[in-house]
Amino acid sequence: MREITPRKIIEMKGREKIAMVTAYDYPSALIADKAGIDIIFIGDSLGMVVYGEPNTLNVSMEQMIYHTRAVAKAVKRGLVLADMPFMSYEVSIEEGLRNAAKLIQAGADAVKIEGGYDHRKLVKRLVRVGIPVMGHTGLTPQRYLRLGGYRLMGETEEEIEEILRDAKALEKAGAFAVVLEFVLADVAKLVTEEVKIPTIGIGSGPYVDGQVLVWHDLLGIYENVPPFVKKYADLGSMIQLALEEYRSEVKNGKFPEPKHYWEFLDKDDFEKKKKRAIEKLMRDSLEFSDD
Ligand code: KIV
Repeated sequence: MREITPRKIIEMKGREKIAMVTAYDYPSALIADKAGIDIIFIGDSLGMVVYGEPNTLNVSMEQMIYHTRAVAKAVKRGLVLADMPFMSYEVSIEEGLRNAAKLIQAGADAVKIEGGYDHRKLVKRLVRVGIPVMGHTGLTPQRYLRLGGYRLMGETEEEIEEILRDAKALEKAGAFAVVLEFVLADVAKLVTEEVKIPTIGIGSGPYVDGQVLVWHDLLGIYENVPPFVKKYADLGSMIQLALEEYRSEVKNGKFPEPKHYWEFLDKDDFEKKKKRAIEKLMRDSLEFSDD
């Protein structure tokens, strides 16, 4: 069992801020775990940042299972959380249970679903069978068509009520945490004060119990970043520079250098071996011609 469990995440509320980041493959997850990230999350954002889709609606269970397997192999300490993709849990509770189990069997410690109140029965069943769940309210990208795009949430009384209702329903159903995405900071603060489970914000200000960012956004690899992202590195430019240098060194013969390859020290020995190898090959090819 990994060191960070859902129970530990709950215990961190009010004591220590929770750091969560997405990762979609083995090397990234290895680095995130070494960096001491608490929750390493295979988000369905992979549809956009890894597969180049314009939204997350085409992400399949197969993709989520595949990437969860790679991440789970790398992580020793952090909690491995896998996203339930669009339409993997909306049709029926049974289907949601089956699909969540597939992510757990692929190595996740918990699953995340978008939504709250509407999915309270599913959350309850998942928790009862032993699958820890994180909810997600505010901007829920799987519903961006209904919401009218990727926009700031919580400006109206109705939206404040809906966000609060979602968070409370998730808490009551047994979820161990809730993501608040692109919610006005005052609303995020209200929710954080009103529920006992940790709130993990993304674009929702500082008055939450933790933060989550998308790997490619925070490291500067993806171009279309949301306005709330802080770029902690510009790896996209660094990778491009490295590739340009590599390309140029291949073209002008500067790479490989002697330290990157091996050759015979005794050239006479090589000449003898070469001669014998060619002679053998010629004999063999005569034999092949009889085939
Ligand atoms: O899929 C994802 O990366 C997410 C985060 C934005 C929370 O759901």
